[in-house]
Amino acid sequence: MIEFRHMQKAYGPSVVLKDINTVVNEGDSIALIGPSGTGKSTLMRCLNFLDPPTGGQIFVDGVELTAPGCDINRMRQKMGMVFQSYNLFNHMTVIENIMYAPVKLLGLSRQEAYDRGMELLRQVGLAERALKYPSSLSGGQKQRVAIARTLAMDPDIILFDEPTSALDPTMVGEVEAVIEDLALSGKTMMIVTHEMRLAKKVSNRVLYMDEGIIYEDGTTEQIFEHPVKDKTRRFVRRLKVLELNIGSRDYDYVGAASEIEQYCFKNRIPQRLCNGIQAAVEELCFTILMRELPEPKIDVVAEYSEKHESAYITVRYPGDFRPGSSDDKIPLKVLDVFSSTQEYKYDEESGISTIVIKILDR
Ligand SMILES: Nc1ncnc2c1ncn2[C@@H]1O[C@H](COP(=O)(O)OP(=O)(O)OP(=O)(O)O)[C@@H](O)[C@H]1O
Ligand SMILES: [Mg+2]
Repeated sequence: MIEFRHMQKAYGPSVVLKDINTVVNEGDSIALIGPSGTGKSTLMRCLNFLDPPTGGQIFVDGVELTAPGCDINRMRQKMGMVFQSYNLFNHMTVIENIMYAPVKLLGLSRQEAYDRGMELLRQVGLAERALKYPSSLSGGQKQRVAIARTLAMDPDIILFDEPTSALDPTMVGEVEAVIEDLALSGKTMMIVTHEMRLAKKVSNRVLYMDEGIIYEDGTTEQIFEHPVKDKTRRFVRRLKVLELNIGSRDYDYVGAASEIEQYCFKNRIPQRLCNGIQAAVEELCFTILMRELPEPKIDVVAEYSEKHESAYITVRYPGDFRPGSSDDKIPLKVLDVFSSTQEYKYDEESGISTIVIKILDR
């Protein structure tokens, strides 16, 4: 239905979308997720040509939008857009807001537009507000009217850009319920959201965006339960990450200790976990590995999960040196106090040793 081929979007020298390739099939309900600034809104604006791409191609129902001379206005009618801010006409009643575009652009009679508009208002639970003005509605009600107005144009696909992020928390539910109904009815849609709960509820496919590309694409279950790539995993599990790259024996370990402290403080990591992370890095990296490795090149990644109240420390270095090779456990005295599991693995192919330590807050 929609296909992106090597689509690119740059603002002057800054390339926001480098190479977007994907296909949206009819009936897909796609959640577009990713860190702030990775171009999710830009991708949507490119798709409906509010902000045309600067390279590559977009096809909608086999017609190339990016071809010279394409009738963009006609193609745009296939796509409805719902924004964070509702953009209703405040001088028109709710029903007039909904009737306006179908009469003007689709050539419906006022009666047809009214009947259809009332049906849509019933669908979003607002029929009795038809004759009110938007200023008398709550944010959640306004957004539901905005959705009804979009549906009135009978688009093939609906694009939502953070439809609930401007709402008071008490109103998020009513809007989510309307979006969920739409997804269940098989409407094709794409939704940008930072609410992972909403993404899980309404999508059958998830695109994780990062580094100017669609970094990982999978079913909702794949992306949330078994993400393949590190960045995706960190994002969907909301892991707070700290990386240290130790490159020589002169490494500033006092600086590293204060970096860990700042990382813990910034992410509100409980004090005991923080102590555990510091002790583990200090003992394993600075006491044991620094002394034993012929050339210390050690990468340390700490990942903290608020949800699980635990932290993982992954330490990687070249060579097959295994601390305390006598048995399976790494004999780190200090770690016995904090950690629940420790694992050592040597990968023959890359010649890299990996140690993973799990630290619990207990
Ligand atoms: N009109 C513009 N001119 C220049 N740069 C822009 C313009 N619009 C967006 N950008 C830049 O493009 C990048 C992507 O922005 P975009 O709004 O698409 O991100 P996003 O993923 O939607 O972020 P968020 O989750 O915060 O909404 C940002 O670095 C932004 O500064
Ligand atoms: Mg955005």
